[in-house]
Amino acid sequence: MCRLTRLLGLGPKPTAPLVQAPGILRRENAALSGADLIRSFGRGETKSYALKGVSVEFRKGDLNLLMGPSGSGKSTLLAVLSGLLRPDDGAVGALGQDVWRMSEEQMERFRLQHCSYIFQGYNLFPALTAREQLEIVLKWGEGCSAREARKRSDHVLGQLGLANKAHLRPGQMSGGEKQRVAIGRALVKNPTLVFADEPTAALDWENGQQVIKLLTENARERGAMVLVVTHDPRLVPFADKVLELTDGQLTQEGTPSEVLERPDIHEFTPPPVRKGPRLRLHVPQPAMA
Ligand SMILES: Nc1ncnc2c1ncn2[C@@H]1O[C@H](COP(=O)(O)OP(=O)(O)OP(=O)(O)O)[C@@H](O)[C@H]1O
Ligand SMILES: [Mg+2]
Repeated sequence: MCRLTRLLGLGPKPTAPLVQAPGILRRENAALSGADLIRSFGRGETKSYALKGVSVEFRKGDLNLLMGPSGSGKSTLLAVLSGLLRPDDGAVGALGQDVWRMSEEQMERFRLQHCSYIFQGYNLFPALTAREQLEIVLKWGEGCSAREARKRSDHVLGQLGLANKAHLRPGQMSGGEKQRVAIGRALVKNPTLVFADEPTAALDWENGQQVIKLLTENARERGAMVLVVTHDPRLVPFADKVLELTDGQLTQEGTPSEVLERPDIHEFTPPPVRKGPRLRLHVPQPAMA
């Protein structure tokens, strides 16, 4: 498969059945689950544990927020659950498959077919217009005709309030607009599992609200499982479930109202704005710079 195809999260449809998850990972309604996840970084004296045995479950149709202090393991957990970072131990079940027992090829197909990723750094192709960023996903991934790809791309851009920006390249867009295009590109293929790491961190609240509303709609109306890492307590009311990690362990899990009753919810300190994920992941990087 060529680099651009990989990079866009595109590729051939699965031909062989994927590895079945063990029973524990196939609970009814659980679109995604992690069992006893452990992940360390470094070796010897520098070895430290980012995840110290985390178990979680997420249903289709829910928007889930993953919160917690800086360095608590949120991005690591998101990466492990989404098939981007292999855990030292534990298992991840997604749509009935045991993610980390798949071969590389099976895993790649699974990610291409079912998963979308949204990061703070946008990862847009500098040379393509907003419309083309979406069209290419449909043309390459689903073999859509140019006409169909344009129709669907324009529909999504319209939903994102970007109808009049479709002809602009990333260099001509604001941060909020770029993030909305990145979200459009992630959602245009109608993924079942959507993973977003601090998608609103670089945005003002108006743009941040638009982004979280769009993700919420995707969960509620399309039945996707959406998992969002955030530091922003203002996103809590939009969620169906909120989880908190502290020092690599799950310390809270509840509904927004339960979480909002807690006095310390506003104490999450936002990290400095960064471009892109800090973790070294198998995540596609733009090649057409
Ligand atoms: N590639 C890496 N190499 C070494 N240590 C890492 C690496 N990635 C993460 N860590 C460490 O793992 C721990 C959890 O990091 P992680 O990025 O998951 O935290 P986080 O909760 O997402 O933090 P933030 O809110 O600042 O983004 C931290 O102590 C971090 O230093
Ligand atoms: Mg992080």
